[in-house]
Amino acid sequence: MVDRTISDVRTSYDLVADEYVRRISEELEHKPLDRQLLDRFAASVQDFGLSCDMGCGPGHVARYLDERGLRVSGVDLSPVMVEYARKLNPGIEFSCGDMRSLEIEDEALGGIAAFYSIIHIPRPEVVAALVEMKRVLRPGGLLLLTFHIGDDVVHLADWWGRQVSVDFIFFRPEEMTGFLREAGLEVEEVVERDPYPDVEHPSRRAYIFARKPRGSSQARGPSGRPLDAGTSHGLGGQTHMSIVGHTPLKGSDDTGQKEGQEPMA
Ligand SMILES: C[S@@+](CC[C@H](N)C(=O)[O-])C[C@H]1O[C@@H](n2cnc3c(N)ncnc32)[C@H](O)[C@@H]1O
Repeated sequence: MVDRTISDVRTSYDLVADEYVRRISEELEHKPLDRQLLDRFAASVQDFGLSCDMGCGPGHVARYLDERGLRVSGVDLSPVMVEYARKLNPGIEFSCGDMRSLEIEDEALGGIAAFYSIIHIPRPEVVAALVEMKRVLRPGGLLLLTFHIGDDVVHLADWWGRQVSVDFIFFRPEEMTGFLREAGLEVEEVVERDPYPDVEHPSRRAYIFARKPRGSSQARGPSGRPLDAGTSHGLGGQTHMSIVGHTPLKGSDDTGQKEGQEPMA
């Protein structure tokens, strides 16, 4: 059966890739907290071998990590995005792939930075996608996951004047920490911030650091895929929660874009 939703997401990003590059590929310059958290991520996985920018788009997160001395690659669903990522970041390896079924060996990665890519995975498939990320992380490996906070699913049929069909799924942090634990990952820290005005879509943001437990092993079926989400792992330590900023927000179902604001990035 053709997976209609995922092929719509792929085609949509193929169609907006040039504009996405133009508007968003330098966005980290304007996002100090993102840079700070990526610095921490890089320092923490520095000695763990290869890391991956999962759902990398034009590859600016991979580039930032590469510039901090990390060995990093990138994976994205959209072939056009991958082409741009290669062109913009020579020296970094980018490939096409679906985070729900990665062509990456077990335990090959020391870290995964997944910036606003889990937002395209429908709720019922999120735990399976996280189990897949856990599979490719080495024990002790670190995931840094980011998303828009809320309960809504925002559908775009027109994005920057292109006819697309793509859902942006918002999550509550406590919902996502539940998914991460169900996938067998240890949640270490949850950070929230308000949107940067005039830089990005006006939604509140969450960043979660989660780790694959050291010494964890995965039960596998005949296909080699993990059998289940592995719910037996407890937390390695206390989860730390940081809230950054408290400015009141408009409802997260507000999809209206003001000039200068970027939708959903
Ligand atoms: C909102 S963009 C984020 C891009 C980049 N990480 C950033 O922070 O700007 C979402 C990206 O995730 C990719 N994506 C969506 N579903 C995916 C999947 N199942 N596997 C891999 N990448 C996916 C899209 O093609 C798109 O490039």
